[in-house]
Amino acid sequence: MADLEHIMRTTFSSREFTDQAVTDADVDEILDLARFASSGGNGQGWRVVAIRAAETKQAVLDASMPIARRYVAGRAAGEQPFTDLAQSTVTDADVEAVTPEASAWYTVLAQAPVLLVIGIDRRKMAAVDIGLDRVGIAGGGSIYPFVQNILLAARARGMSGVLTTFASGAEPAVQSIVGFPPEVAVAAMVPIGYPVKTITKLRRKPVEEFARWEHMDGAPITAP
Ligand SMILES: Cc1cc2nc3c(=O)[nH]c(=O)nc-3n(C[C@H](O)[C@H](O)[C@H](O)COP(=O)(O)O)c2cc1C
Repeated sequence: MADLEHIMRTTFSSREFTDQAVTDADVDEILDLARFASSGGNGQGWRVVAIRAAETKQAVLDASMPIARRYVAGRAAGEQPFTDLAQSTVTDADVEAVTPEASAWYTVLAQAPVLLVIGIDRRKMAAVDIGLDRVGIAGGGSIYPFVQNILLAARARGMSGVLTTFASGAEPAVQSIVGFPPEVAVAAMVPIGYPVKTITKLRRKPVEEFARWEHMDGAPITAP
C-alpha cells in the first residue's frame, strides 16, 4: 500500500469510474478506516447510506440538481457561488438556462458504482460558532474529517471519489430518499469507484501563499 504522504498528495477528485466493482468489503474497509476521524467531543455523529440501486442514485442526483445548476450559473456569472459574503445576482431564469452539458460533470456521478450519502446527527455536532452572526463553520469540523478519511482510504485502495455538497442544499428531499430523520443533516455525497483517469499532480497553492508565522503580517512559512 502506498505511503500516507503519497496518498495525501494525490487524493484527487474523480467523477468518472470504470465498471470495476466496488465490493461490500471495500465499502466496509473504507468506512472502518474513516471512523478514526476526530469529531467535536468525539461525538461520532456520522451516518452513512451506501447506495448501489440505480434509481436511488438517480433520485439523489435529481434532487440536488437544482443546487448544482445554481452553482454552475453562479460560476458563469463570475461569482463564488453560495458565499455568505455577497448577494448572488443569479436569477431563476439564469438557473433554468443552464444546459445539461454544463452540469454533466455532476449528473455523471449517478454512474458511480456506489454513492455514499453522509449525514451528521446535529445533536452530536460541536457548532461552537453558533453565537456569531455569520454562516456556521465549526459544525462541519465534526463531519468533514470523516469524509476526507473516506477519500484517503479509497485512494489507498486504488479507488477514488469526490466530496460533493450539493445534496446538502437539497436536504429535505435527500433525507426522505435515504431515510435520514430530521436531526440528521446531509453533509456530503461521495461517489466511490475505480477512476477512469488517475491524476497525481494536483493544483494546489504553496504553503507560503496561505500561512504566516505568528500573525498574518508575519513572515510566510516556507521550507528552511
Ligand atoms: C466542500 C466541497 C464541496 C465540493 N463540491 C463538489 C461538487 O458538488 N461537485 C464536484 O464535482 N466537486 C465538488 N468538490 C470537489 C472540488 O471541486 C475539487 O476538490 C477541487 O476542484 C480540486 O480538484 P482536485 O482534487 O481534483 O485537484 C467539492 C469539494 C469540497 C471540499
